Order: sequence, then structure tokens, then C-alpha cells
Amino acid sequence: MDKKFYVTTPIYYVNDVPHIGHAYTTIVADVLARYYRQLLGEKSVFFLTGTDEHGAKVAQAAEAAKKKPKEFCDQVVSRFVKAWKELKISHDYFIRTTDPRHEKIVQRLLQKVYDNGYIYEGAYEGLYCVGCEKFLTETDLVNNKCPLHPNQKPIHQKEKNYFFKLSYFRKKIIKAIKDKSNPNHYEVLPEERRNEILGKLNQGLDDVSISRAGVEWGIPIPWDKKQTTYVWFDALLNYYTATQFLKDRNKFWPANLHLIGKDILWFHAVIWQAFLLAAGLPLPKKVFAHGFFTINDQKMSKSLGNVISPSDLVKIFGVDGSRYLMLSAFPFGTDGDISLEKFKTRYNADLANGLGNVVARVAKLCENSGLEFETTKTRGAIYSKELQEAFENFRFDDVLQNLWNTRLHAIDKLIDHHSPWLIEDKNELQKVLQEEVDELREFATKLKPFLPKTAEKIEKQFKGPKIKTGRLLFPRLK
Ligand code: MSP
Repeated sequence: MDKKFYVTTPIYYVNDVPHIGHAYTTIVADVLARYYRQLLGEKSVFFLTGTDEHGAKVAQAAEAAKKKPKEFCDQVVSRFVKAWKELKISHDYFIRTTDPRHEKIVQRLLQKVYDNGYIYEGAYEGLYCVGCEKFLTETDLVNNKCPLHPNQKPIHQKEKNYFFKLSYFRKKIIKAIKDKSNPNHYEVLPEERRNEILGKLNQGLDDVSISRAGVEWGIPIPWDKKQTTYVWFDALLNYYTATQFLKDRNKFWPANLHLIGKDILWFHAVIWQAFLLAAGLPLPKKVFAHGFFTINDQKMSKSLGNVISPSDLVKIFGVDGSRYLMLSAFPFGTDGDISLEKFKTRYNADLANGLGNVVARVAKLCENSGLEFETTKTRGAIYSKELQEAFENFRFDDVLQNLWNTRLHAIDKLIDHHSPWLIEDKNELQKVLQEEVDELREFATKLKPFLPKTAEKIEKQFKGPKIKTGRLLFPRLK
């Protein structure tokens, strides 16, 4: 295992209102960051998230709000900052691409790649989708529209652009993905996404435009100030720039893991890696693209009015409830469907009746006994091989299931088995209850990455020497 862990989320478009799609990726990054902090120590983990603030899409949103782009970004960025605070996201840094320190390094890297001979001048003619901030090919179109943004007409564009020689890197990229002994080896996960990428790479690779003549809101191209950097070549670089402009973070490059949704896999698994090769920088070790969820079998979209915000969820299920429900709903990596009804059923079963009940049961027995318990000895988290493997293979639903089905049920069974209410001998009762308390404390440690607030509450309640009943952890929902 690497001695450090650097995990990133996509940087979200700042003009978006945070929704649970954004929250999904961010919660998973948070779970992993917390898990690796337990294993490797706080200082060995770096968790980065942030916002993507340049480009036509943001400029248009600013114009609609009658604001200057930067002023607009400064105002709306707080929506993401607040959302992550509310969800107890423990990122070490929140990067904004309008940060001058980021902009400077982007220019430096572009210049380097230009000097290395991988950027040339050309003309671009074709269709562009502002919603995706992406050039479209014939095969992308459905009824002459971008399938992801059917309400926006793709724009026909013809302009002078600078191009990145992506095609030159095709074979190198294929080798880096396939060959584990290649010094640039990186993994694209899950397996079917890797195959998808390799299949696409086998079909050939076109060069990509890295600059825009018609978009003012962007980082100027260092050798031609009339053009700005294509927003993706500004955004992707955030993963690297943060490690360079922040103090003592450069040891974290290359990243161990880029967590993304499947919609932006090509940018991360191919274009980003090729750019790093062109700049002579080490490549990240893993890119994991998770699936998308639908809500009641429908795509989540503004026009359908079914967008759920993180705070909508938190209001009903609480912070930890929301985190638990999102991660246990379906395997990470696949597509899945969620619904508030299903969430309610699961909340009542696993959290109110399951975890909440066991905690209340043990606390009550301890309180009734009038005994005093050993105070918690601080010790690190110990995960079984099975659990570590599940964590490291992104099987978060399995980790949770394992914790609930084996550990939590075991505590419940232990209580039934001991029947402490029938034990009259104080020493015997002490021994039996102490065992249950210890089990619960250990369970709380393993719960920390997923349900940080709850784990903290359990630790506090069962710290000893006196243990008392507390407030219900998860009140039942009607
Ligand atoms: N700004 C770019 C990313 C640049 S990264 C260098 C971008 N931003 S975004 O705001 O559109 O966020 C996209 C990400 O949001 C997806 O990759 C995914 O992580 C998450 N999701 C958005 N909708 C989602 C679902 N319905 N389901 C699951 N995740 C979703 O693209």
C-alpha cells in the first residue's frame, strides 16, 4: 500500500446548484479520505474538491444574473461550500479555478507542453455544446442535438484554435492502461469502463482543441493572449496545481485516485493522462468512474423538477442518514435508482431499528446496572482483511452490509445470549456488559468513515466510566 493517499472529486461547475449527484461523488471521496486517515494518519492524506469557474457556460450564467463573471462566481461558490459543510465533508482544500495561483501554473504547464512541441495552430469547424463544454462529433448527436442537453441547440463554430497532439499519445496511453509494468501504468475502473475506453482508443484518436477564440472568460493562452484556454484544460489541471501552490502538498502528486462520474471519463482517462505525458509529469494511479442514478426511474433534471439537493435529504434523514442511504442504495460503479420511499424504508430498518436500537439497548442495560466501566483506551481502527479489500475495491455497500450483518447483529445476539437482566452476580454482569460496550466502541471506530457524527456520539456516550441512555440516534420516520 502507498504511504500516502491523495483523492479528488470532479470540480463542479460553479453555476450549478449542488444536487445529490454532486454529493454522491463527494461523499465517497470523503469516506475514503477518512478511512485512509485512520490507516495512514491525518498528514498522509490529501482530499481535494472545488469548483470549475471558467468557460462559456459560467459566463452565460453570469450574464443572465447581470453580474461580472468573477463577481458571480464569488457569490455562488458559497452554495457548494455550504453543501459540503452540511454533509460533513472533510476535504483538506477547496480549489477554485479563478484562483490566480492556479491560473499561473496552468499557463506555465501549457507553455511547457507548447515548448515540447505538442501544441500546434489549426482551425476548428464543427458543433459545440455549451452545456457539456464539449465539441460534438456526428456520432454524439441524437436528432441533431446533444443528448444530454436537448434543450440547447449546439453552436456551429469556426475559429482559429490551438490543438493538442492527442493522437500522438494513443499507443502510449493504451500501454499505460494495459501494461502493469509500464512506468506510467494507471488503472481505469470499473472493468467495463476500462474496456469501453480501450475500445474507443483502438478506433483511433483525434487531436483536440485546447483554446477558444470566442470565449473571453478563461485563462489567456500564454503565447497568444487573444485566445483563452479551453475550460477542460484549465479544469483538469486543478488536480495538479493545488499540490503545487499549497504549502507542503507537492509530495501528494501523483494523485492516487480521481473519483468521477461516468459522464466525464474520457477527459480523465485519456485526455488528462496524455497532457501529463506531454508535460513530462507522473500520471495519477487510478481513475474510478461511478454510475449515475435515476430518481424513481427518471433522469434527475431541472425540467422534470425532480432535482434533490443535499439539504433536502439532510432535512429528512439527517447528515449521517443521508450518507448511509446514498452509499448503501446500490453498488458503487453501477447505475442505480433511488427514491425517497425506498430511503425511508431502509432508514427505519437499518438506522432507526438497527443501529439506533442496539445502541439504546446497550446504554439502557449499562445505566440500569449502576456499574462503572473501563474508560475507552484509544486505539486505531482495525479492519479485517475482508473489510479492507471491500474498501479498496470500492464496494462500500458490502462494507456497510458486513458491518450491519456481522458486527451489529453480533452485539444484538450477544445481549440475547447473555441476558444481562437475569444476571445477579455483579462481577459477572460487569464482565458481560463490558464486552458489549467494547464491541460497540469498536463498531463505532469502523463506522467513522461513513457516519462520522454518529460514531462520535457513540464514542462519547460509551466513554465510561458511567454510561447513560442518550437521545435516540435515528428517530423513526413515519
Ligand atoms: N466541471 C466538470 C468537471 C471538471 S473535473 C476536472 C463537470 N462538472 S459537473 O458539475 O457537471 O459535475 C459532474 C459530476 O457530477 C459527475 O462526474 C458526477 O460525479 C456527478 N453527477 C452529476 N449527476 C449525477 C447523477 N445523476 N448521478 C451520479 N453522479 C452525478 O462535469
